[in-house]
Amino acid sequence: MKDLAIQLNNTLQHLPAEEILKAVNEQFRGKICFASSLGYEDQAITHMISVHCPDLPIFTLDTGRLFPETYDLIDRTNSRLKVNIHVYFPDAKEVEEMVAAKGINLFYDSIENRKLCCAVRKTHPLRRALAGRQAWVTGLRRAQSVTRHEMQAVEWDETNQLIKINPLIYWTDDQVVTYVKTHNIPYHPLHDKGFPSIGCQPCTRAILPGEDIRAGRWWWENPDQKECGLHQSNHEKQNNQ
Ligand code: ADX
Ligand code: SF4
Repeated sequence: MKDLAIQLNNTLQHLPAEEILKAVNEQFRGKICFASSLGYEDQAITHMISVHCPDLPIFTLDTGRLFPETYDLIDRTNSRLKVNIHVYFPDAKEVEEMVAAKGINLFYDSIENRKLCCAVRKTHPLRRALAGRQAWVTGLRRAQSVTRHEMQAVEWDETNQLIKINPLIYWTDDQVVTYVKTHNIPYHPLHDKGFPSIGCQPCTRAILPGEDIRAGRWWWENPDQKECGLHQSNHEKQNNQ
């Protein structure tokens, strides 16, 4: 599968995003899914899927701490784009035990606590969402962060032991916004209020003009630590072992 990822990357990486999606859906039909956070990038991909490969399943991870606007957008997207976004929830017992031991807002106390919360609320449900699949699609872009500069359009995801497809990997911020607006795709209202990147409500703030687009995510941490475990790079993983 690692070799297949390299081979697919070589042939697909410079194709238009729609073509990448069609090709990987063909290749992994029934064993592929798309993870959407309902951000700009994901709304663009959801639109492409709805037009070009409507049988490719879409899911989102509801951490229980999302913005109310995100829930509204799930509904609007389902009805406007005629898709059915599957919602995965964290394990109730795991959340209860974590909160009992560490507090409801544990993530502000230490990086360990923040990573624990992301593991319980995001990474563990992600494992369930990816079970039985061979490949998953994400809205990752190189321009989003220093931790993402080496990512590929198609790559081997060591953590999840799957092929990961990032059809917008080379897209600029402007390209994404233009695509969403040109196609009149519903998008998150917070994008117009200074939130280029949106995750959980307690861990996301608006950014100031000139700040990095992910500066509002876990703003109290260093930029090179700001991954929640969904996208720990193979490089980072080796460094943490
Ligand atoms: S995060 O790891 O820092 O939260 P980010 O918000 O940049 O990730 O999103 C990158 C990609 O990860 C999204 O395009 C999407 O594919 C996936 N993703 C992030 N959050 C979620 C979520 N809650 N549910 C499903 N997929 C998600
Ligand atoms: Fe928990 Fe914040 Fe991670 Fe959401 S982003 S899972 S609230 S630590």
